[in-house]
Amino acid sequence: MIEKFLNKITQGDCLELLKQIPDNSVDMTFADPPFNLKKGYNSYKDSLKLQEYLDWCEAWISEMVRITKPTGSIFLHNIPKWLTYYASFLNKRADFKHWISWDAPTAPMGKSLQPGHYGILFYAKNAKQLKYHEIRHPHKRARKTKILAKDYGGKKSMLHPFGPLVSDVWTDIHRIKHNKFRDEHPCQLPIHLLERIILMSTDENDIVLDPFNGTGTTAIAAKRLGRQYIGFDLDEEYVRITQQKLEREEPISKLGNTWVSFYLDEVVTLRNNDWDSLKEFYYIPNNVEEIDNAPIVLKRKVHIQTPLKSITYSSTCEHEYQATLFDPKIEYGLNGTNGNKHKDLA
Ligand SMILES: C[S@@+](CC[C@H](N)C(=O)[O-])C[C@H]1O[C@@H](n2cnc3c(N)ncnc32)[C@H](O)[C@@H]1O
Repeated sequence: MIEKFLNKITQGDCLELLKQIPDNSVDMTFADPPFNLKKGYNSYKDSLKLQEYLDWCEAWISEMVRITKPTGSIFLHNIPKWLTYYASFLNKRADFKHWISWDAPTAPMGKSLQPGHYGILFYAKNAKQLKYHEIRHPHKRARKTKILAKDYGGKKSMLHPFGPLVSDVWTDIHRIKHNKFRDEHPCQLPIHLLERIILMSTDENDIVLDPFNGTGTTAIAAKRLGRQYIGFDLDEEYVRITQQKLEREEPISKLGNTWVSFYLDEVVTLRNNDWDSLKEFYYIPNNVEEIDNAPIVLKRKVHIQTPLKSITYSSTCEHEYQATLFDPKIEYGLNGTNGNKHKDLA
């Protein structure tokens, strides 16, 4: 039964589609549902009555838990207000792991603290059986001087050359700001956010399911990392945009034989256990204290294409013409060499 959905984006109501997925069959489920904030989606009206919204959320959350394997994890992205309800549903069905605070400044709301983060709830279907990999991200540094932002005092000799273990506060991944990288969708997430979640919770060929696909962030991250994906979305247009983007994607997010997550040609997330096979790709100073002043650098430049915006020219006729915004600086790199996606991978 699951085969018909594998490595596809299916258009339809996720609640109906989730019911067709067998129990305990998916390694990781991630949901970024509508926030009930009257966002301008193509077809979905994002304005349910409070209880109606909560009942609907509880229904698809229980389905997500049902289909997740006992070794699997469940992630839910939303504003803190809705996550408090989600946690109360989930606490009855799964094991709490973390409330990840994803730093994201928003507009002032008036008569409230300024919202400064989205939350990502991380639950294990069964904490005792959970598959989980520790992950690291690069040291945080001053933008101009590149000196470490954190003062490690007398402990500099113990610094990890790449960077610290990732905590439950994520300040190093930013929302997509530039329109050039956005599809015609009001709340597209960055690929490397999903890659981080996928690297910590799944292995190669595992199955990742997103019931609110949007324009495909989860599916693209999964495909880049050699995982299988299942995506659902109510909207025909978003499904089409995703399929078009997926056709251009390949499982390329690697250094040597090891899966990692890139952003702007730098590794931004890797697994702690993979460091032994990854360190040969970097120049690492003999005196680890030099890392205080400069990041370690890759021996060979890597170019992973940033996903480009899909433009859809809708028309009333049966066929729609779709094109890709082509940015030579991105595709070819600033040095003007041909930007074959595999070119610089060792
Ligand atoms: C917050 S967006 C997801 C964005 C996605 N994470 C991305 O990065 O592109 C929520 C999506 O849920 C879809 N949606 C709303 N109701 C749905 C339903 N009942 N079943 C499936 N998809 C639905 C909307 O069309 C919208 O694309």
